[in-house]
Amino acid sequence: MSRSSGKIGGVVELRPSLLAADFSRLAEHAKEALDAGAQALHADVMDGRFVPPITYGADVVKAVIEATGAVTDAHLMIVEPEKQLDVFAEAGVRGITVHVEADKHLHRTLSRIRELGLEAGVALNPATPVVPTLRHVIPLLDRVLIMSVNPGWGGQTFIPQAIDKIRRLRRLLDSSWSKASIQVDGGVSAKNAGDLVRAGVTELVAGTAVFKGDVASNVAALRKAVEAALAV
Ligand code: DX5
Ligand code: ZN
Repeated sequence: MSRSSGKIGGVVELRPSLLAADFSRLAEHAKEALDAGAQALHADVMDGRFVPPITYGADVVKAVIEATGAVTDAHLMIVEPEKQLDVFAEAGVRGITVHVEADKHLHRTLSRIRELGLEAGVALNPATPVVPTLRHVIPLLDRVLIMSVNPGWGGQTFIPQAIDKIRRLRRLLDSSWSKASIQVDGGVSAKNAGDLVRAGVTELVAGTAVFKGDVASNVAALRKAVEAALAV
């Protein structure tokens, strides 16, 4: 099946999180999701400092990109993210997202990501407010990631307040003429995908809901929920 199956309804992308894939056959498992109709991949990078677990770094992400050919964004849950930008660019990611809570010089980091020719993203933890955090960097944003769990682990329960934050973010971006995508990450499933899309999400990240069980039917269920929300 083609890797360029297009956005769901021309609007929404499903980006499976590699964190929930089988690490003993990472690229192969990721390919199953892409073949089933996911548009891109999401790589969760954790350093044991910003969040307790350690996952993988640029070399592993590079191997997955080379094996799958997938558009991939790196979600850096690490302190001092500016030190890793060049190696992730060399790994072949399309975008890099840094946590505002982990970066003392957000404006400089986003500028550098763009200088590297990549999409620049900012992630907000559940307790981080939308407007004061983003107002002064809007022109530098290609992506905003609203965390709907506290970062660090897959398989957590979705925090429903994320929906209100997404609505606020949608208003902020629209009123600023920003074309940045809105990504949501954490506890995303076929049950809440419709609400998230209606609130303004354009990129759904899902780990457990894609990789636990039958990948093809999981992806089909997520796509169906998005299509139903877009049809209303
Ligand atoms: C959490 C990660 C997520 C995580 C999502 O820190 O950023 O991408 O893998 O996993 P699920 O979909 O299982 O909540
Ligand atoms: Zn993530």
